[in-house]
Parts: sequence; structure tokens; C-alpha cells
Amino acid sequence: MKALEGVKILDFTHVQSGPTCTQLLAWFGADVIKVERPGAGDATREQLQDIPDVDSLYFTMLNHNKRSITLDTKNPKGIEVLWRLVAECDVLVENFAPGALTRMGLTWEAIHAANPRMILASVKGFGPGAYADCKVYENVAQCVGGAASTTGFRTGTPMVTGAQIGDSGTGLHLALGIVTALYQRTHSGLGQRVDCAMQDSVLNLCRVKLRDQQRLERGPLQEYSQFGEGIAFGDAVPRAGNDSGGGQPGRILKCKGWETDPNAYIYFITQGPVWEKICDVIGEPTWKTHPDYATAKARLPHLNEIFTRIEAWTMSKTKFEAMDILNGLHIPCGPILSMKEIAEDQALRKAGTVVEVDHPTRGKYLTVGNPIKLSASATDVTRSPLLGEHTDEILRDVLGYSETERLNISESGAIGAIRKIAAA
Ligand code: COA
Repeated sequence: MKALEGVKILDFTHVQSGPTCTQLLAWFGADVIKVERPGAGDATREQLQDIPDVDSLYFTMLNHNKRSITLDTKNPKGIEVLWRLVAECDVLVENFAPGALTRMGLTWEAIHAANPRMILASVKGFGPGAYADCKVYENVAQCVGGAASTTGFRTGTPMVTGAQIGDSGTGLHLALGIVTALYQRTHSGLGQRVDCAMQDSVLNLCRVKLRDQQRLERGPLQEYSQFGEGIAFGDAVPRAGNDSGGGQPGRILKCKGWETDPNAYIYFITQGPVWEKICDVIGEPTWKTHPDYATAKARLPHLNEIFTRIEAWTMSKTKFEAMDILNGLHIPCGPILSMKEIAEDQALRKAGTVVEVDHPTRGKYLTVGNPIKLSASATDVTRSPLLGEHTDEILRDVLGYSETERLNISESGAIGAIRKIAAA
């Protein structure tokens, strides 16, 4: 028995934000029925293809454990089938451009009237306001959610991060909203709307920067490197390079081999409670009592020279040697792992965080498994569906259409050419 067994998701999502959400729900055991346009499907099937005519890794890595039905929602028969799915399912998840769902006739009022228990979950770029009608992709969300203005180096341009906080971040928020609404439905018996704006989700993940904006009004941000460098602050939170976002100063430092290996670095945190151990390990025992270094407050104006000294020590070790020594002393640190190192990490494989999946046209590939581990609802990652692979099965088993009805639907053009029901 899986946690969400029995929950049916009408998955009207595409690209990344919505599919991230429904993939998580599928991993928790929901029956996720992905509705795709006949002949084309989710645009990501063809984006960044590494093997000709084979579903891309972009698609396969975001759509595990789902079923695919092709349905032309601009065909009258197609829209009729879609309404049958609305009546059958518990949750409709969508991330179309603003207005697209309404143009299909799927307003909240109509959905609620047809199935009062249905939860309608949507991702949009912005919430209500001047930009509510805009189409939004990942990097736009990072820019308008405060991430880009606070990422990168003070002297450089604003920068987006490789972590997909706009798309996958919003998908995570939406999944939490959906399970919360499902829980509330156990009391109320009614569905509700769950709306997540990408701007809001990014801002939620940048909460500490809005914290710093308000702290800045009361004085300079002393844990930022620029404070130690004597550089004045402006009126907005600056980009802080690799400075730690918390109250424990941290930096990325070079390790042995940095001249040739772009990832021979370690993140080092000068956590207050282990300061004395840090002094010992880097060979500066007198810093334990020195007035410039003994307390966290005294150290703030000297962070550059402190980290320069620590780096002289980290450069004498590989990142893994440094990590072993520092971990042994409970000094927080983290080697900069490349994607190659992560892909080969046997502990991540064993934990089900990196998973090898077999696909009928692609063969074997690696994916990221479920990062949320439930002790009583294990995740088995199964491959993404081929386009329309389950069309007939869903029409028959979920919607109860007879063979004649399925043939009629097929002949109407509503489910496209590629998966027409054979007369036999
Ligand atoms: N059959 C027929 N038509 C279908 C269909 C189907 N099965 N599924 C979708 N469509 C049509 C819709 O009816 C709509 O057509 P219309 O505009 O004529 O009414 C259209 O496809 C919807 O496409 P749209 O969402 O506008 O796609 P896009 O490629 O132009 O834009 C996004 C992509 C991501 C920018 C946009 O969907 C968006 O802003 N989404 C919300 C924010 C978001 O999730 N962004 C992150 C994506 S990772």
C-alpha cells in the first residue's frame, strides 16, 4: 500500500514545474494520468534530444511512474472525454499559460459543479497583479523572485543558479498544497483551488535575503565579505558571492589540484562552537585567545584574512582528505561535487537517490529518484510513458468505454493517429 494509493491525478502539466509535482505524487502512489496533445505530446519530449526520435532525458527524468493518454482538447469528442476524466479524478494539475484552461471551458466553477470533490492545482508565473497574464520560464522566475539580484559576485552581473528553484521549486510547493487540500477534503468533503506562482515560490526560497534587506536598514551586513573589505553597502541586499547566508561565516576554498580540476574546492564554515578546533587544525592555536579572532563578533572584520589562512591549509589537501579531517572534528564542510562524481556515488545509488532506469527506446539512463523517503511507502521508480501508451487502457479501465465507443472516439480524431484502436 502506497501513501497516495487510490488518488487519481489528471495531469495536464508540461515542461518542468507541473511534471515535477505530479511525478512526486506518482512516487507516493497516486495514479497519474498525463494528458498530452496527439502526435506531439509534452514539448520536452523533443527538447534537448540526445538520441534522434527518442524521448529526451528532459522528459523521461520528469515523468516517471505516469500513464500517458493522448487527447485533442480542441476536438469536441476530446473535450467530452476530458470531462469524463474530470468526473473520475481527484486532482487536476495544470501549468498552462494564463487563460488556456478557461479557453478549454475548464473554469473552476464548471469543474467544481461537475465534481465538487476535485482539487484544481495550478502553476502560473505570477500571482494576481500587473503580470498575471505573463508566460514564465525558470530563469524569469529566478529574476523576479529575488534570486538573481542576490546571486553572483558583488562586482558582476546578477546571476541565475543551476538549481531549478523556479520550476522544480514551484512543483514542490504545489505538491505540498495538493496533499494538504486532499487532507482538508477528508473533513470538508470538498475540493478547492491550489495556486502557486513561480515568483512566490522563488521568493519563499530567498526568504533569508528579505531578512537581510530589513537588517540592512539598521546597519551594514557584517557577515558579508564586503564589510571586511571596507566597501559601503547600497540600499538593496548585494550579491554575496559564496558567503554563507546564515550567521556562521563560510566560503568556498581551493583544495589540492585546483589549478587543473574545476571542482577541487571545499565549502568551509567557521562555526562558532568549533572555532578552537579550527585554530588547531590550521596551525594557528594562538588565534583561540587573540582579541581579533577569539569571538565571532571580533572575527567579522577579519574574515578575508581568516579564510586566506584556512585556504592555505585546504590547498595542502584534496577536497576528500580535507573533508575526512574536518568531519572527524565536527567542523561543517562540504566538498564541491561534480555531476560526474554524484552520478558515480554508490551511497546515493544505494539510497535510491540516483536510480538507473531502463527505457524501451532509450535503454538505460540515470535519474534522480524520490528525495523524500517515507518509511511505509517505498518509491519504485518506473520509466516514463511513451506518447499515448495508455490511451486505450485509460479509456477502457478508468472511463469504462466499450470497444465500440473507443472506436468512435478514435475515428473522431480525438486521440490522434498514432494510437488508434485496432478493430480486432
Ligand atoms: N490538445 C489540444 N490543445 C492543447 C492540449 C491538448 N491536449 N494541451 C494543451 N493545448 C493547448 C491549449 O489549449 C493552449 O492553446 P490556446 O493558447 O490556443 O488556448 C495551448 O496548448 C497552451 O499552451 P501554453 O501553455 O500557452 O504553452 P506555451 O508553450 O506557449 O507556453 C509556458 C509554455 C510554460 C511558458 C506556459 O505554459 C506558462 O507560462 N505556464 C505557466 C508557468 C509555468 O509553468 N512555467 C514553467 C514551465 S516549466
